Amino acid sequence: MANRGGFSSKLGFIMAAAGSAVGLGNIWGFPYEVGQGGGAAFVVMYLIFCFLLCFPVMVTEIAIGRKSQKNAVGAFNYLGFKKWNIVGKMGILCGVLILSFYNVIAGWAFGYIFEMASSNFGIADHFGDYVLNIFRVGLYGLVFMAVTAYVVSKGVSGGIEKAAKLLMPTLLFLIVSLVLYSFTLENSMAGVKFYLIPDFSLMTGSVIYNAMGQAFFSLSLGMGALITYGSYVSKNDNIITSAAFITLADVGIALIAGLMIFPLIGYMTEGTMSEVGRGPALIFVTLPQIFGSIGGSWGAAVGTIFFVLLCFAALTSTVSLLEVPVSYVVDELNVRRKRAVWLVAGLIYLIGIPSLLGNGYSEFFSHFVTYIGADSATDFLSFMNHVANDTLLPLGGCLIVFFAAHVWKKENLDEELAQGAPNYKGSFVQKYLNFAVSYLAPIVLGTVFVLTVLSTFFGINLI
Ligand code: PHE
Repeated sequence: MANRGGFSSKLGFIMAAAGSAVGLGNIWGFPYEVGQGGGAAFVVMYLIFCFLLCFPVMVTEIAIGRKSQKNAVGAFNYLGFKKWNIVGKMGILCGVLILSFYNVIAGWAFGYIFEMASSNFGIADHFGDYVLNIFRVGLYGLVFMAVTAYVVSKGVSGGIEKAAKLLMPTLLFLIVSLVLYSFTLENSMAGVKFYLIPDFSLMTGSVIYNAMGQAFFSLSLGMGALITYGSYVSKNDNIITSAAFITLADVGIALIAGLMIFPLIGYMTEGTMSEVGRGPALIFVTLPQIFGSIGGSWGAAVGTIFFVLLCFAALTSTVSLLEVPVSYVVDELNVRRKRAVWLVAGLIYLIGIPSLLGNGYSEFFSHFVTYIGADSATDFLSFMNHVANDTLLPLGGCLIVFFAAHVWKKENLDEELAQGAPNYKGSFVQKYLNFAVSYLAPIVLGTVFVLTVLSTFFGINLI
């Protein structure tokens, strides 16, 4: 068998996996979901899901990957359950769909670097026109995809790991600097309050589904990204502690991103927090307005740094999204890595074109479907997001843990987890993981999956 490569150290793996986890989901998605979902009540749900449910799923994915040393489909074959490789295939499809629209958003963010650097804060009022200029934003997306492909083509330790080791610490530095800055502004405390003091009367069914979807998406779970990265992990590494670091890094960065954005919104709205529910436009419309009100070269500097940071975060995630189908094509179809990378990246870029056009340019893609019971139509990008993130990820996660506990069997999972973790057997962590992987996670994820499908696509809200 050809040498598949691997991470050069435990730290390298943690950085790359944390890089996969930390992305647009944390810095763009998390704050807007918090804003729409009632502030701190959403945050509390999100934390519960991350630690109690998602952590066990993450551990399981990494263990399946490391045991088999295979891509998301090959892993199931290797373990002897060929029929189950449908879960891996679904994961690859999901990764392809996510990357197709994720790259569009990353392209917008990339273009904003130039807008901020040239003090064009007025872009905030013209975001609608900005995304309509499809040749320009299409080109930004193309550049972003090409950079992603370049990193992936350099292989696991030479490309993915190297990029993550450089980008992740830079990201942390930039984001902490922005938090400190935002705290110096007037009315910043109104934002902090909104963000950190929960009002549980705001906790509705959709807050719960969204928190679940957000936790899954943010931790890169449910589609085999961590099976794939896990397949490059050394047998001597401790999977439990690695997964704990990755979860903490991801949750930590999301929380810090909130600490950066909500004080800024407090400042701009003079403490009323009125802009906070703007949804996906939050960072493309509201933030530039804020940078504009800071004014002068400070505003331009802060704005530029913010979008550079966002692009760094997005890049380590797009790299992991691309690696999932690429490693499948390399392992199973015997294509050379370089060729596989450019072919797959090109294809995914094309699949992303409807998402690019569906923001007003094309009537058809902008009003792509109307769900049963909905008042208005949903655009193509949001539709992809609902199908992939909100639906396929929890379903994939549910099937992966069910598979590990009841088909592959939890004794085998335990065996793999104990490798490199001498104190694992007999520990409290082992007991909790056994319970969570066998019962808690499959039941809760299965339920959330059904409730989400009913609520999103059929307008039936059972809770
Ligand atoms: N976790 C990434 C983010 O938060 C997105 C992602 C999802 C990456 C699934 C890989 C797999 O932006």
